[in-house]
Amino acid sequence: MPPAIAWAMSAGRGLLASLTLRMLGSTTSHSTSPPTGDTGDDAISPKSTTGPVYNLTATNCWMRTKSCAIKFGSASFFDFKRLVFDNITIVDSHRGLGMQIRDGGNVNDVVFSNIKMRTRYYHPLWWGRAEPIYITTCPRHPDSKEGAISDIRFINISSVSENGVFLAGSKHGLLRNLKFKNIDLTYKRWTNYTGGLYDYRPGCQEMVKHKTGGMMLEHISGLEIDNVRMRWARGSLKGWNVNPILFRPSTIDNLSFHDWQSVDVQ
Ligand SMILES: *[C@@H]1O[C@H](CO)[C@@H](O)[C@H](O)[C@H]1NC(C)=O
Ligand SMILES: *[C@@H]1O[C@H](CO)[C@@H](O)[C@H](O)[C@H]1NC(C)=O
Ligand SMILES: *[C@@H]1O[C@H](CO)[C@@H](O)[C@H](O)[C@H]1NC(C)=O
Ligand SMILES: *[C@@H]1O[C@H](CO)[C@@H](O)[C@H](O)[C@H]1NC(C)=O
Ligand SMILES: *[C@@H]1O[C@H](CO)[C@@H](O)[C@H](O)[C@H]1NC(C)=O
Repeated sequence: MPPAIAWAMSAGRGLLASLTLRMLGSTTSHSTSPPTGDTGDDAISPKSTTGPVYNLTATNCWMRTKSCAIKFGSASFFDFKRLVFDNITIVDSHRGLGMQIRDGGNVNDVVFSNIKMRTRYYHPLWWGRAEPIYITTCPRHPDSKEGAISDIRFINISSVSENGVFLAGSKHGLLRNLKFKNIDLTYKRWTNYTGGLYDYRPGCQEMVKHKTGGMMLEHISGLEIDNVRMRWARGSLKGWNVNPILFRPSTIDNLSFHDWQSVDVQ
């Protein structure tokens, strides 16, 4: 099934600019029910196959997918710049907010605000590992260019998820200046799928066995945490070797933590 909305289809024009999307899946302008996207593949997936994507705004949506609800890429040859996603509800999806940059395009200046999510495991043939937030850039093939991701803000986000936040740049494609403000992350297991895998697909390192953490950080320069709460439903996390934050120190610099808590809940 194709993404509910994929900008690859409009990429023939070379440039997608200044598009505002308010209604998803609703074709009548008189509809009063909330706009929805209910799909197997990604729900909103801007792609930069033949040109850059600028000034895209998506607001007031409800989504459910066995893939990623909002996903940049993976077709990402050109840049993404100035995108806003606001007031969005994502339920029972395999991934919430995602960037899968694999082909050399850069991402800059993106805001995700006022978003509620619930992410869970599905069969691993679907890309996704229940991550509420998944920001990655790495070369699809050993000779692909490495895009960078910079100035990304997450504001007023809450999630209940079966896996942690995954933030991974690559050696020549760093994640720069990420900001998390007013974030509430609850960790809990309710499906019986096996966890313990980092998912770099497509390409890169594919799937890597690894213990699970609340946030995994790799190849980042500039991460600001401001008012972030992690809540652990310990009883439901059997077999999950829980660490609030996992990172490879030699690949990370300029971290700032302000008002960060990690607490147990029932
Ligand atoms: C995107 O929006 C900015 C600010 O409003 C504007 O300056 C720029 O020209 C827009 N870019 C495109 C490609 O429309
Ligand atoms: C947020 O989106 C929902 C639809 O999902 C809508 O009913 C609600 O009015 C929106 N809230 C704001 C503040 O725009
Ligand atoms: C985040 O939430 C606070 C409190 O509800 C609100 O004042 C602020 O405007 C919100 N920020 C954004 C970017 O929506
Ligand atoms: C998960 O549980 C369901 C029923 O609750 C069962 O049908 C399924 O086989 C189980 N899957 C695994 C991988 O254990
Ligand atoms: C550190 O990161 C912050 C954002 O998190 C950025 O504003 C600042 O410029 C960075 N400082 C250095 C020295 O890179």
